[in-house]
Amino acid sequence: MDLSPLDEAGIALAVSSAIAAFESASTLEELKEARLTHSGDGAPITQANMQIKSLEKDQKPVAGRLMGSARKEIQQALDLATARIEALNEERMLAEEMVDVTVPTRRAPKGARHPLNVLLEDVSDFFIGMGWDIVEGPEIEHEWFNFDALNFGPDHPARQMQDTFYVDGVETVASDGSASDQVEQPGLVLRTHTSPVQSHTLLSRGAPVYIACPGKVYRTDALDATHTPVFHQIEGLAVDKGLTMEHLKGTLDHFAKAMFGPEAKTRLRPSFFPFTEPSAEMDLWFPLKKGGPGWIEWGGCGMVNPEVLKNAGIDPEEYTGFAFGMGIERTLMLRHGIADMRDMVEGDIRFSLQFGTTGRGN
Ligand code: FA5
Ligand code: MG
Repeated sequence: MDLSPLDEAGIALAVSSAIAAFESASTLEELKEARLTHSGDGAPITQANMQIKSLEKDQKPVAGRLMGSARKEIQQALDLATARIEALNEERMLAEEMVDVTVPTRRAPKGARHPLNVLLEDVSDFFIGMGWDIVEGPEIEHEWFNFDALNFGPDHPARQMQDTFYVDGVETVASDGSASDQVEQPGLVLRTHTSPVQSHTLLSRGAPVYIACPGKVYRTDALDATHTPVFHQIEGLAVDKGLTMEHLKGTLDHFAKAMFGPEAKTRLRPSFFPFTEPSAEMDLWFPLKKGGPGWIEWGGCGMVNPEVLKNAGIDPEEYTGFAFGMGIERTLMLRHGIADMRDMVEGDIRFSLQFGTTGRGN
């Protein structure tokens, strides 16, 4: 039942059924199938077209015109249908992939700076205001700086005053890549206080010197309401000609008032540190103390021991100095009436948020 290239009615029928098939296709797959059926290699119209060459010479132009316009109509219908389906697909995709930007979401909660960091900055600002330099030292420290330079003798019982984390030797690999060895104990500790920064600075800068050293320190203390194994100290050191205990007391009172208001004052009680002589515990007058106003231990202080100056190559006949060190966690507790130090180290955002997003308690 071949279609003849001269069969005008048959060709018109093939064209209209092709157009109908294209129009009823609703996906590109359906359209492809309709195209193969109605204009593919095996389609009657294609077959008819191939027969033109075997027609009589005078019939060829007639058949050529008929077939030409038929194939053109089919191609146009196919293009139309393709465009229609593609537009449809795009519309569907847009609808499916639409993002509703008006849907309410969970808001990202605002962070808060940790009040300890803010306090450390405030404390540093105070000393900068007095013209002192801020100096930092390493947290992994040579035993020599943490103890020896500060006049803790090798078997000095005072080494036991502070419970120390010692740092293991480092694994090394031989240059030929063979077996690794444990190097001998390198004499490293996690610094137990910020006082080793005193020696670093005296050695590198000499005298006179006025520095404050904020930073993290480590002790094998158990975590409880008033102790943590990782805490912060602020160290102060002034070395100059003619400095006396009075300069120390004046500086401490000035610092206390800056931290705790005009009513604040300090009191010194005789104590012992190998690196200061004389040494004192420094108490702070604390009006908000539970059970009524009273004195609370804030830190240690004293006149720089001449041995420490000598260890740094400074002549103690020419220079004297004073030093002090206090706990920042304790300072924050006193300042804000925080009862339990554990709240400060647990990293619960609700704790920090009480101090506002600036960490200043407002
Ligand atoms: C010292 O660390 C001396 N280096 C201080 C010093 C500096 C004395 C300069 C003289 C001259 P002490 O071990 O007392 O001293 O610690 C000082 C302060 O650190 C304490 O008063 C306390 O506020 C704080 N502190 C000590 N241990 C802890 C701990 N486990 N957790 C939190 N704070 C602590
Ligand atoms: Mg102490």
